[in-house]
Amino acid sequence: MTKPHFAKKQKKLSKDADAVETRLHQLKEVERPKELPPINMQVVEQESLQHRTVIRGWDVEGRAGDKRLWEAFDFSISGGDKVALIGPNGSGKTTFLRMILNDRDRIQAAPAVSFGYFSQMLEILEEEKSILDNVRDTSFQDETIIRTVLGRLGFFQEDVFKRVKDLSGGERVKTGFAKLFVSGANVLILDEPTNYLDIRALEALESLLGDYCGTVLFVSHDRRFLEKTATRIFAIHDKRITVFDGSYQEYLRA
Ligand SMILES: Nc1ncnc2c1ncn2[C@@H]1O[C@H](COP(=O)(O)OP(=O)(O)OP(=O)(O)O)[C@@H](O)[C@H]1O
Ligand SMILES: [Mg+2]
Repeated sequence: MTKPHFAKKQKKLSKDADAVETRLHQLKEVERPKELPPINMQVVEQESLQHRTVIRGWDVEGRAGDKRLWEAFDFSISGGDKVALIGPNGSGKTTFLRMILNDRDRIQAAPAVSFGYFSQMLEILEEEKSILDNVRDTSFQDETIIRTVLGRLGFFQEDVFKRVKDLSGGERVKTGFAKLFVSGANVLILDEPTNYLDIRALEALESLLGDYCGTVLFVSHDRRFLEKTATRIFAIHDKRITVFDGSYQEYLRA
């Protein structure tokens, strides 16, 4: 067999493989449950923040003790942005999120901003209380929306009365997320909200954030979640943070 012929055959094979892939993809789309109706989520001060600058940072440098994590950079985040913060372990992602919450010298937040912070420690949850009580205690939404959100996350009927101390890792993450999601907070700061989640829970999170009109700054190592959720990327590498305006797919291509 001559080389060009072989190459041609290879090309054909890979084209066929692509076609099969596309078919599979289409099949999956068809088999998926019907699109869920959007949840009509309100956040506090929504109108005054949409598409305006909600957070602005000048000369923001990352430090941990005497170690420099990233060199000074400027940034701004607008109402409705879904910003993914990516970077290797130990590069300073959690540090950056904490600075957004606490550093009022170099980072300014619009007066109408109310933050909701999801940390990996999930310290917002009260162990002795039920899922429903944890979520309801700080809710800005009515009971119907709370139950709808919990249902999307896979908590039905008496599930919601389980106490947090009895929950699995994934159930805790989902409870913490639900609590913030209905809290009325208009800027969600989420540190690895996808940890421990299975594919169904991931899809639920994606769809809920799709319905959320507020601003989200999140850290995730889950490629699919990044692809579905992010509209902008802040990437930490080589001790710098670069800002990319576009989806994760576009970022990878660029
Ligand atoms: N108070 C502190 N004193 C000294 N070093 C610290 C302190 N807090 C964090 N660090 C260090 O700063 C670096 C960045 O930590 P950070 O938690 O922000 O990383 P990360 O990107 O969130 O990592 P991961 O993906 O593992 O969550 C790490 O090397 C960490 O050990
Ligand atoms: Mg971290």
